This record gives sequence, structure tokens and C-alpha cells, in this order.
Amino acid sequence: MSGTQVTICCGVGGTGKTTTSAALALAYALSGQRVVVLTIDPARRLADALGIGTLDNMPRRVPLEGAAGTLDALMLDRAATWDEVVRRRATPETAERLLENRYYRAVSTRLTGSHEYMAVEKLHALATHGGYDHVIVDTPPTQHVVDFFRAPDRVRGILDRSMLRLLIDPGTSLRGVAARGALSIVERLAGERVMGEIREFFSLIGEMSAGFRERSEEVATLLRSGRTVYWLVTEADAPERNDLLGFLGELRERGMRFGGFLMNRVQPEVPLGMPAADALERAIAGLAGADEALRALYALPEHARTRAAGHERAARRLCLEGGAPVWTVPELAGGVRSLEGLAALTPHLPPAAEPSYRSGTATWR
Ligand SMILES: Nc1ncnc2c1ncn2[C@@H]1O[C@H](COP(=O)(O)OP(=O)(O)OP(=O)(O)O)[C@@H](O)[C@H]1O
Ligand SMILES: [Mg+2]
Repeated sequence: MSGTQVTICCGVGGTGKTTTSAALALAYALSGQRVVVLTIDPARRLADALGIGTLDNMPRRVPLEGAAGTLDALMLDRAATWDEVVRRRATPETAERLLENRYYRAVSTRLTGSHEYMAVEKLHALATHGGYDHVIVDTPPTQHVVDFFRAPDRVRGILDRSMLRLLIDPGTSLRGVAARGALSIVERLAGERVMGEIREFFSLIGEMSAGFRERSEEVATLLRSGRTVYWLVTEADAPERNDLLGFLGELRERGMRFGGFLMNRVQPEVPLGMPAADALERAIAGLAGADEALRALYALPEHARTRAAGHERAARRLCLEGGAPVWTVPELAGGVRSLEGLAALTPHLPPAAEPSYRSGTATWR
């Protein structure tokens, strides 16, 4: 694989993985890198924020005026990636037969580990022949933040003990005999022609399994190398939602490099003067329930400062417990809905150069 860098944003559901991945990608593109962000955002909010209408399985260029680098974005689509892999990796004859096989479309995306195969394939394609300096990966909403980096190992594990292999070549093992028995029952029920097509499907896919294995090994090496860095996205109000120790333990066990924390939705600094408050105070005075409303108004800056102090304490705690830097990303009023919104987050994110974390020199930022 070439010298492409990989950045992976992990975190439990809804913490801001998609948003921070896109903001990191934008920051790196603005600083001169050729960047692609592989996102998983079924709600398609990101496509709107990037101003590119739709996101699909092929990288699309995000127009950035005056940027030193480039930014592309894509969204993993399992079925489309299967087609790409078949076209690119199978022999022309196998590809043609597979794409015409009636079971291919129905079954390929449902095979055990199908999602992992395709995530690995996509990352491999982007990192090897995408022509990018940096691939940023947004991970899917899950309670198990480690699922993504387990993918290449899972692909190999599944290929090793796959029923698929037994079906292609039942051999004489006990399980093979059982599989043959099961097959003949299905054959009697479904008819020989149908079974022929199913058998052909598995046999054609089987021809490709060496390739799946090879690429998953390459991706596993890349994910463990110094070229890949992992960030944990946490929520400022609830950092404990991530299983921090479990996550760091898995990373260390696999020899993977941790960049630090992206603590999202941090209370922005409260301005000292609030000119709008005077006008609001005049408007409220004299209305029914004015006293209560005024008290709430006066309490606002105080509330924000208390929240900010809580976030600062949580950031220090994360830094100590994780032994890594914490980058505090402010909460934008009204959400992050445009390139301008993403751009507002970029000054708060780690720079594209080497991550600042070196073991033993953890800092809080
Ligand atoms: N710093 C921020 N300020 C304001 N709104 C934010 C911020 N970060 C994220 N959001 C908003 O919070 C919502 C959830 O963010 P996002 O989709 O990035 O989370 P996620 O971790 O990718 O979620 P999922 O686990 O569902 O994929 C979005 O509407 C996004 O615009
Ligand atoms: Mg997301």
C-alpha cells in the first residue's frame, strides 16, 4: 500500500462521529492534503452539510474555493461495493456469470460478515489506488466501538471456518458429510435447476475468497501500522457513555495507535456583555410571568459557565484516565448544517501533521 494516512473516528451512537470526521477531513483538505472521508450517515445529513446533494459509493468532490488540497466524500453501499469488487477482482468470465446469477444480488449482501468484507474492500481500494494522502473513516452507530477495527480479522475468521467452503467442496469430513446431506434435502425440495444456480454462486464466490483474504490481511496490517490513528469521539455532557478502558485496552492489545479524544458539544465560551439581553429584558417586562422569565434570563450566563466548568473537569479526567490529549470541540447553536458550520469546528481539531500524543507527554488542550 502507498503512504496514505488513515484516521478513524470511533464512539458510541450520536456522539458526533460523522460530524467530526467531516470536519477533520475539511481541516486536512484546507491545509493542503488530498482527503477522502468515508462516511456512514444513513440520515444523509452530512451530504446536505457538505452541499453536494447526495453521497454514494463513489467519491464525490466537495467544492472548496481556494483550498490548498481537495476533499472527496462517499458513503459505503454494500451492494454497489460487491459489484465493484466482482468487476475489479474476478476474471471477466467469473464476473459475468456472477452478476447474472439470480442468487448473487439476494445473497451476497446477506452472507455472514458481508458488511465487514465490504468495509475492508472499500478501505483497501481508497488507501491503495485512490490517489489520496489521507482517508478519514467515520464508523457506524454501534454500542461496540471496536467493531470496525475487528473487521479484517473477522473476515479472515469467517473465511477460515465458513460453511461456504463446505458447500463448495464438502469433502469427506464429518461436517462435510452433514453439509452434503443438508444439500441433498434442499435439492429435493428446491429442484435441481435452482440448486445448480445456488451451487454455481457459491463456487464463483469461492474463487474470490483468496483475494478477500489477501486484502483483509493488507488492511489489518495498515490498521495496525503507524499510518493509522484512532480518535474516540465523546460527548461533553456524558463522556462515560463510551467504555473508555475497554476501548483503550483493545487498541493496545492490537498494537493500534490512539490519537486522543475529540470531546464534542463542549459549551462555548460565554461572552461577557450580552447586548441582546437588554432588549430582551425590556420586552419581557410587563408581560404575564415576567418575574420568572427575567430570573431565567439572568441565570443564563451562570448556567453556561457552570456547564463549561463541568466540561473542563470531564476533559481533565479523560486526559488523565486515557493518558492522551483531549480536543474540545464546541457546540454550535442550531447544529452543524453547512460547510461554514464544519469550518467553524476546524480550529478546534488536531492538525493534520503527526498527532501530538507521545506516550508519557499527555496534555490537555
Ligand atoms: N459540535 C456540534 N455542535 C452542534 N451540533 C452538533 C455538533 N456535533 C454534532 N452535532 C449534531 O448532532 C447530530 C448527531 O451528530 P452525528 O450525526 O455527527 O453523530 P454520530 O456519532 O455520527 O451519530 P450516529 O452514531 O447516529 O452515526 C447531528 O445533527 C449533528 O449536526
Ligand atoms: Mg454517524
